[in-house]
Amino acid sequence: MKKKPVWLDCDPGHDDCFAIALAAYHQKLNLLGISTTGGNQSVEKTTSNALSWLSHIGKSTIPVYRGEANPLVLKPQICAEIHGESGLESFSSSQEHLATALKPQKQGAVSAMAETILRSAEPVTLIGIARLTNIALMLQRFPDVTQNIEQIVLMGGALGVGNTQPVSEFNIESDPHAAEIVFNGASQDYKLVMIPLEVTHRVLVTPDIFRRVRSLGEFGLLCEDLLLFFKDPYEPVFGFPPPPLHDPCAVYYVTNPEQFTTRLVNVEIETSSPLSLGQTVADMYSRTDRTPNVIVGTDINTERFWETMLEALKAVTRASDAGE
Ligand code: RIB
Ligand code: CA
Repeated sequence: MKKKPVWLDCDPGHDDCFAIALAAYHQKLNLLGISTTGGNQSVEKTTSNALSWLSHIGKSTIPVYRGEANPLVLKPQICAEIHGESGLESFSSSQEHLATALKPQKQGAVSAMAETILRSAEPVTLIGIARLTNIALMLQRFPDVTQNIEQIVLMGGALGVGNTQPVSEFNIESDPHAAEIVFNGASQDYKLVMIPLEVTHRVLVTPDIFRRVRSLGEFGLLCEDLLLFFKDPYEPVFGFPPPPLHDPCAVYYVTNPEQFTTRLVNVEIETSSPLSLGQTVADMYSRTDRTPNVIVGTDINTERFWETMLEALKAVTRASDAGE
């Protein structure tokens, strides 16, 4: 089966790591490279976490490119209350030594992403699961790249209530100006798919999921630790007993779009109101004459998602047992 070339832009981040494992091990995907940005933690820490995690899952040959430290306009913010001081607490705190042995590529993420996409024999799917700074800069500096982009699939945005802001989701509100660039190019330059909180909040790490993860042996116990760390702050901060696992939903859309309910609507980004900065304003009922530009996810087959996610974690375990 011909594999679909993909590029992952991320800020590991506990849920980013599950997205990396799914993108690296799903039999339909060829993960060409990973770029990092600040977000859940500083770009230094998210880059170190990406390197450590790839090494730990047996994929240290996948190149990692360090991206932008800061948003285009706003001051950088991090999400340490969810992801901890290292950005991958409970994993990188014990694996810090590993990161020092691994280094990112010398080339910066923006040009590396563009060159890889332009060089690809097949159009590339770009998956964004962090703030959109790297992707926006690439679209601005290398406009020809859109000729070889299959689609851009984002975990981000909210149709109603936000998370880190009342009506804004973290990946968008941490760089709304970058998001505006990416959303403005949608439909005329590339297909844009947005997997918002309304979808990811259906993908909950329930006790049954914890049990199924734990049953995967030593790697399963490590994944359980990551999920437990992620779970602890979610309830007091967001009132979620079982936490949602956001980022792998965007990868799952690339492998199984038929497992999602979607709608083509107009989505624009609020970039000035202090009340709703970073809001993804989705015209779900076509109340305006604004052109529909984004394919918005509204539902997901959660059981099929978990089957696929757990299969990828099993593949990591098989590779580890085979000494790969
Ligand atoms: O709002 C959830 C998103 O913000 C996820 O990508 C998570 O990793 C954080 O980056
Ligand atoms: Ca993320």
